[in-house]
Amino acid sequence: MTSKLKIDSTLPMPSGYDIPIFGFGVYQTPAAEAEALVSHAFKAGYRHVDTAVGYYNEGPCAKALLASGLPRSALFYTTKVPPREISYEGAKKAIAGTFEKTGLDYIDLYLLHAPYGGKENRLGAWKALVEGVKEGKIRSIGVSNYGDHHLEELEAYIKEQGWGKEGVISVNQVELHPWMARPDIVNWCRERGIVMEAYSPLIRATRNDELVLVKLAEKHGRSVAQVLLRWSLQMGFVPLPKTVNLTRIEENADVFNFELDEEDMKELDTGAYESSGWDPTISKD
Ligand SMILES: NC(=O)c1ccc[n+]([C@@H]2O[C@H](COP(=O)([O-])OP(=O)(O)OC[C@H]3O[C@@H](n4cnc5c(N)ncnc54)[C@H](OP(=O)(O)O)[C@@H]3O)[C@@H](O)[C@H]2O)c1
Repeated sequence: MTSKLKIDSTLPMPSGYDIPIFGFGVYQTPAAEAEALVSHAFKAGYRHVDTAVGYYNEGPCAKALLASGLPRSALFYTTKVPPREISYEGAKKAIAGTFEKTGLDYIDLYLLHAPYGGKENRLGAWKALVEGVKEGKIRSIGVSNYGDHHLEELEAYIKEQGWGKEGVISVNQVELHPWMARPDIVNWCRERGIVMEAYSPLIRATRNDELVLVKLAEKHGRSVAQVLLRWSLQMGFVPLPKTVNLTRIEENADVFNFELDEEDMKELDTGAYESSGWDPTISKD
């Protein structure tokens, strides 16, 4: 079944909209380079770009989308409320800023970047996202870096408000790779149909010499990056690989013509919990 995945395959979200299963990440991509890189990614078949207010490249990413010549409905644009501005006012400001900077008619997916700011502010920020949906500005909403306890807090609030599809959590974007497979968060979300997006799917290029990865890359005649992306897709995640290199944009997209077998997937089941960056899922405030 997995071999039938294509770069423009989609997954359904609780909002009722679909999300392309393969995204282009632009964290730390300089604003001056972002438009050309995202344009190249669209030419290479990507249909989904993952930016954030905090990446300072929302505008150039939108420019590439609008200039792509592809129908708007075929493309997917995600952005995020900054981690340090999680509150009702902060989210309202972030949303307004996105429209100013991008000139887009609507945003496909707006996320809360991290579960910071305390309960009241987290829920207030969510309310602002829901208002964005009700106003027709945003199609789907979700969270990033949410642990089970944050998700439960939000789920209880949504139930209390009695919101339907407009208030529902569509996505949780967290660090996901074989050394950070997070079965607890993944299962919590799966049970509710929430799509798991995998950030740092290439482990930020920190494990390219890892023996098991090198072995599997040789076995399949692929690169380590391609093995990691294939793992992510076969786990049912939406990987968001980042690169500022044109050749690597193509290399990373060229993962829809081979498959890891059951044995390979078992070898990559490390059981480890080793973050390559930050881990706000465990924050307690
Ligand atoms: N929500 C969050 O808190 C959060 C946190 C982190 C990331 N993200 C999202 O997820 C995206 C990806 O995560 P990430 O940027 O942390 O890391 P990543 O995609 O796992 O790794 C990016 C690193 O891998 C290198 N690379 C890319 N393709 C390669 C290849 N084929 N061979 C060798 N090296 C390669 C890149 O270098 P070059 O650029 O030089 O090629 C860069 O150093 C981000 O851009 C962002 O959209 C979200």
